[in-house]
Amino acid sequence: MSSNSSNRGPGGLTTVGAKMLVALTGIGLILFVIAHMLGNLQIFLGPEALNNYAHKLKSMGPLLWVARIGLLAIFVTHLGLTLALTRRNTKARGGSVAEPQIKITGERYLNGYAYETATTASRYMIHTGILILIFVVYHLLHFTVMPDETVLMPTSELPNVYGMVIDGFENAGIASLYILAQLALASHIYHGASSCLQTLGLRTNTTKAGISKLGLLLALLIGLGNISIPIAVLANLIN
Ligand code: HEM
Repeated sequence: MSSNSSNRGPGGLTTVGAKMLVALTGIGLILFVIAHMLGNLQIFLGPEALNNYAHKLKSMGPLLWVARIGLLAIFVTHLGLTLALTRRNTKARGGSVAEPQIKITGERYLNGYAYETATTASRYMIHTGILILIFVVYHLLHFTVMPDETVLMPTSELPNVYGMVIDGFENAGIASLYILAQLALASHIYHGASSCLQTLGLRTNTTKAGISKLGLLLALLIGLGNISIPIAVLANLIN
């Protein structure tokens, strides 16, 4: 077997190719999460603003389905390749000489000493990723696939997405689940954002500090932005 083919990773891609795709799909998912959060934050502008926004999205017709299928493809690619790379990496760390060491999130995973220097966020990427997957399945069932029709019932010509979100988060258990999921998401983005840019070769000695700050800033903005919604409902600031 040639050394090149032994470097073949998941789906016949080279390990570098697989990591590039994980990085690009990661950036796509971060952009989706930012757009989704900005849309949801319209809840603070009142029922009409959020319901109008939801109505506009639903009126996109077939385009909405193209976007949904695109998003699903990006999500599945990101998840599938990450799991496959992690499996290979674990095997490689298990001591197989033939297997090349695969860096998922940078130099820090190369050996025992370096692993110890990994940040908590980077060490738990796979765990926070799985928590996000569980959250997304629950979230889709909660608001999209099986929404509470009695609450979602339009008050005017618009679907009452505002009422559905308020009704959901008035339940402290559900609101807490959302808050915990956003903490996992923030941790994932904190490490993931800088890791993506490193894989794409954009993290150099000069950009290193700025990129780490960007990861922290994105994690804080997305985490706090999303968490503000269930907190505001629980605190009765919006109702
Ligand atoms: C507190 C945080 C969040 C709130 C309040 C929220 C709210 C909503 C609502 C109301 C919908 C249904 C929209 C409609 O029927 O028009 C929705 C759909 C969705 N949300 Fe969220 N969301 C939150 C966080 C997230 C996160 C973190 C993700 C991904 C990691 C996510 C992924 C999705 C997806 C994929 C859909 C389906 C979009 C579609 O209809 O195709 N959401 N969300």
